[in-house]
Amino acid sequence: MNGENKKLLTLTIFGGTGDLTFRKLLPALYNLQETNKLDKQMNIVIIGRRSYTTKEYGKIACDWIQKFSRLSYQEESIQQFLQRLHYYQMDFTNIDAYQGLQAYYAQLGCKEHLFYFAVAPRFFEVIANGLFHVMPAQQGKVIVEKPFGEDLISAKKLNQYLENFFQKENVYHIDHYLGKEMIRNMQAIRFMNPIFQGVWNHEFIDHVEISALEEVGVENRGGYYDQSGALKDMVQNHLLQILSIVAMEKPNHFFGDDMHEKQLEVLRSLKPIDKSNIKESMVLAQYEGYRDEDKVDPNSHTETYAALKLYIDNERWKDVPFYIRTGKKLGRREMEVVITFKQSEPEVEPNVLIIKIQPTEGVYFRFNIKKPGDSDEVVPASMDFCQSCLDFNRINTPEAYERLLLAAMHSESSWFSQWEQIETSWTFIEQLKQFYDETNQTLATYPQNSDGPIETKVLFPDGQHWNKATV
Ligand code: BG6
Repeated sequence: MNGENKKLLTLTIFGGTGDLTFRKLLPALYNLQETNKLDKQMNIVIIGRRSYTTKEYGKIACDWIQKFSRLSYQEESIQQFLQRLHYYQMDFTNIDAYQGLQAYYAQLGCKEHLFYFAVAPRFFEVIANGLFHVMPAQQGKVIVEKPFGEDLISAKKLNQYLENFFQKENVYHIDHYLGKEMIRNMQAIRFMNPIFQGVWNHEFIDHVEISALEEVGVENRGGYYDQSGALKDMVQNHLLQILSIVAMEKPNHFFGDDMHEKQLEVLRSLKPIDKSNIKESMVLAQYEGYRDEDKVDPNSHTETYAALKLYIDNERWKDVPFYIRTGKKLGRREMEVVITFKQSEPEVEPNVLIIKIQPTEGVYFRFNIKKPGDSDEVVPASMDFCQSCLDFNRINTPEAYERLLLAAMHSESSWFSQWEQIETSWTFIEQLKQFYDETNQTLATYPQNSDGPIETKVLFPDGQHWNKATV
């Protein structure tokens, strides 16, 4: 496309004074500019209800960028950044306000649009409706934040609604875990190394663990979180997406529909858990003191921790348990995928491969050697590759939101969740929760800063356990 015909993209963020915009989106956009990835003339329109001028908003934006940007804050660059930033005050629930927005776009010369709905899902509909009150439908792209709906029914409705206005391929469901460096690295580690690719199956793998442990509690998000809980907030999206990448068959191409299909096959092959085995398959728990958190119901039964044992019903993963867990107030922030291989001899430790996702990014591998010296004893040894240590200042590693914003600008959908995946994982999680409630399982509790509830031992009748392999 030559320069003259090129239509300038405008990014509009609804929810411009929210936490996500301040902590993630603005710093990510600033970093994209710093690394010369933003078109020089791209406009960013920030929509908020509060009455700020663009100048006032710019000052606030600078403070957040200074605090949260991975690249250092440069006065000259920030001035350039502010030139593309426009604050537009409006109540996005008022349909009549969109005429004014359209006039504002005309004034700025905006033609091509990417919208970012950084708001609660209950507002998606009203915003889409407002936009297409003044613009032709089926134009522009939209990025929607998770949670996509509050349950399967609302997610379906939302999807239908968005697809009335946007073309299916122009709806980008963001799952920021898919933008993380080591999740993106998983395919290379798996498929570009015959030593792993060849043994990635039930013959050699004993079990898989996917853990996303958080040190923080619900902080200022009690109102949202109490309606959601760990299953909907983390498992339905982030953890099942990761599981689908760990377990998928090799796609012909590592991008686009091919990859999505392989992921979807995994999600569709999750072995159903029913009332008879729910007790041994899922443990939910709440941290002590959660009910005293701001905006949380004092009698809340919302889980802040979830652990599950899942099986994938296909030949590759026959009888291999996938243990997944996530929770808040667990005393440390740690996300990793742990592949434990079968023991070669009963008295010898198993090989373990750990893909470390955060806070350290790297790969750890444990193997067996003969103890040095005269002894013939076999002992474990390990190799620990720390990728984030090499790029200590994170100069070369973009944040998840940087990658995903850029991908949506370039219409690359590989690392976004697809509607069919979302629908399949909602169906699976909802059914689990329904069986859990119908069989009157007891919500466990755990002390803050602990490893989580001891009740998860029911998931491991065969002596397996959560990873403690790192030496
Ligand atoms: C979000 C959840 O999607 O992911 C939060 O809503 C959670 O509850 C967060 O804290 C964790 O993200 P990260 O990148 O800090 O692991």
